[in-house]
Amino acid sequence: MKEFFSITQITFLTLLLTAILTPAKAQTPTQFTPGTVWKDTSGEVINAHGGGLLYSGGTYYWYGERRGQRASEGVNAYSSKDLYNWKAEGLALAPEESPESDITKGCLMERPKVIYNEKTGKYIMWFHLELKGRGYDAARAAVAISDSPTGPFKFLESFRPNGNMSRDMTLFVDKDKSAYHIYSSRDNYDLRIAKLTDDYLSPTAADKLLFSQHREAPAIFRHNHLYYMVTSGCTGWAPNRASVHVASSLWGPWEDKGDPMQGPDAATTFGGQSTFILPVSGKTNKFIFMADKWNPKDLKDSRYLWLPAEVKDGKLSITWYDSWKL
Ligand code: GAL
Repeated sequence: MKEFFSITQITFLTLLLTAILTPAKAQTPTQFTPGTVWKDTSGEVINAHGGGLLYSGGTYYWYGERRGQRASEGVNAYSSKDLYNWKAEGLALAPEESPESDITKGCLMERPKVIYNEKTGKYIMWFHLELKGRGYDAARAAVAISDSPTGPFKFLESFRPNGNMSRDMTLFVDKDKSAYHIYSSRDNYDLRIAKLTDDYLSPTAADKLLFSQHREAPAIFRHNHLYYMVTSGCTGWAPNRASVHVASSLWGPWEDKGDPMQGPDAATTFGGQSTFILPVSGKTNKFIFMADKWNPKDLKDSRYLWLPAEVKDGKLSITWYDSWKL
């Protein structure tokens, strides 16, 4: 009888069929690999740029800009127990259909940060909002609220805090649970701080200029009795040199301590731009520095640079590793 396939051909076909029919195993990373493509637990590329983290009830939540190639598509949320494996929780805040809304489709929603208010039991999101069709001219802060960390968040309002322009921003909750909005103002020449009301929904009149060094992308943490604030220069999506300012009070004076980055490409923040610094829960002097390596040709493909940040004798250093563990 004529043989149709040789043993080798049959083995090859069997292997090929097995490979095609076996479902792709979800990734279970056990380390950080800055700058590579990061996937969520269902195998989709994580889309959460200019983001920040919140630790709440034993879970970490990661909020960030959902991006298309250029488009701003709202704020995505992810959850994780170990900071390596992230489950997609969907859009925490979606742009609205109504053309009357400040967050109508086509607006820009950037650098979202979420904090939890113990008094009200609400999750509060602030972000940088640019109104549809106005480029970066509106320079507003915007606020949204939710009963659940994964949303859906309800958009409340947008404004210029105390009349000041507000672009790149972050939030910070201090030990006494007072919260602050730190924001680039006056066309990014000024970095300002405003104390928030007790419900974290509005700025109070306690609003002060911190320094005028043309800095943006603020990321702040506290260690012992000092506050550390990493910022970038203002070169749009292009990376530049970072600096860290240190102060013993949030109101200043803030002292410029130079560039804390160490390793190859330290002079351009490893090709990235700061967005957040997480104190790792349950560990002392362990911080994760988060930056975005922007890809302006395809913003959703911008990469995440998470690196260990450490303070020694009051000096912050953030060191590059191709891969690392907590
Ligand atoms: C950067 C800013 C980003 C984004 C970008 C747009 O300076 O940090 O969040 O606004 O400009 O060009």
